[in-house]
Formats: sequence, C-alpha cells, structure tokens
Amino acid sequence: MTESAPKPLIALGVTGGIAAYKAAELCSTLVKAGFGVQVVMTENACRFVGELTFRTLSQRPVIMDLWTLPDWRPGHVALAAEAALLVVAPCTANFIGKYAGGIADDALSTLAISTRRPVLLAPAMNPEMWSHPAVRENVATLQRRGVHFVGPAVGHVACGADGAGRMSEPGLIFSAISELIGA
Ligand SMILES: Cc1cc2nc3c(=O)[nH]c(=O)nc-3n(C[C@H](O)[C@H](O)[C@H](O)COP(=O)(O)O)c2cc1C
Repeated sequence: MTESAPKPLIALGVTGGIAAYKAAELCSTLVKAGFGVQVVMTENACRFVGELTFRTLSQRPVIMDLWTLPDWRPGHVALAAEAALLVVAPCTANFIGKYAGGIADDALSTLAISTRRPVLLAPAMNPEMWSHPAVRENVATLQRRGVHFVGPAVGHVACGADGAGRMSEPGLIFSAISELIGA
C-alpha cells in the first residue's frame, strides 16, 4: 500500500465579521482532509469567535499578534515561506482596503504583504458595503494583482439585509483552495 503525500500547510486568516463562526467549519474541513492549518486572527475577529476554537480545531496555537515570536524569525515571514496558500475567510471590507493599500499593521495584513503564494479572499459583509465604490475599486485592484476571490453569495445577510455579501459556504471555499493548489 502506498502512503499519500502529506498535504501542504494552509494559512487561514479570520477577520472581524459575523461569518467568523463559519471559518471554524472551514478549518475543521481542511484538517479532516489532511491539510495543516495555521490560523491567523485579527484582533476584531476575536470579538466574534474565541481563539480556543481555532487552536483546538487546527491543533496549533493561533497567531494573533505580530510581536509574539515563536522562533528567531518573525512569524509572518516564516509563515509566508511555509504556507502554500493564504485564505482569508471571512474577509472584511476593512481587510480588503488594507490589503489593496499595502497596509501592514497587524499579523494578518503583514502576512498578506509578505507572501508570494496564492491568496484567496472570501468576502463577507453587508450588501451596501460590498457595493460601495471604495470596496469595488479595492477588489478590482486586488484582482488585477492576481488575488483570487470566492463569493460573496447573494442572499440574506446576518444584519437583516438582502443582496450580495454573504460569505460563500465553507465547502465552496474548500473547493476553491483545492483547485488553486492542485491538491
Ligand atoms: C456586529 C458586527 C458585525 C460586523 N460584521 C462585519 C462583516 O460581516 N463584514 C465586514 O466587512 N465588517 C463587519 N463589521 C465591521 C468590522 O468588524 C470592522 O470594520 C473591523 O474594523 C474589521 O476589522 P478587521 O478587518 O481587522 O478584522 C462588523 C461589526 C460589528 C460590530
């Protein structure tokens, strides 16, 4: 019997939106499929879901700040080199704006600027936010630079509105990841 090759490490960024709870399912799905998962949470993501959930599901400590170094090498540099792909799910309007503007003021945004591997964003926000000209321009800028997007879906969002803004379901995000890294 031949053993299958170990699957690569995925960096899973979680930002501060209601859909952060769905990122736990994505994390679990990735781990069950054999991927290593290193979760990186923004400070605001921690207001929605506890880091303990992700630490337990990923079986790794969660990266939440730039300044706690597990090693001699800054964590974002090490992870940029190690992870095959960065997926941010849910991805806030704020993160999209920071990434488009090259802002690197926390662990996740610094990782995004440091990596040269595929980056996949799963936006989740109120439809008014998704259709705002600033967000539209930032998305176009990132797409021009080769950043990949999955969703958002059209439907009912948690704040009560209807329209484009729902985060894609974890299964769809998982498929997009698998396709991008050919795993
Ligand atoms: C209850 C609540 C829900 C929110 N949901 C979203 C959301 O789904 N999408 C979004 O872009 N921002 C949402 N926000 C606003 C973000 O949390 C805010 O822009 C924050 O600065 C994002 O920080 P981060 O991108 O560093 O995680 C929400 C705020 C609150 C209070």
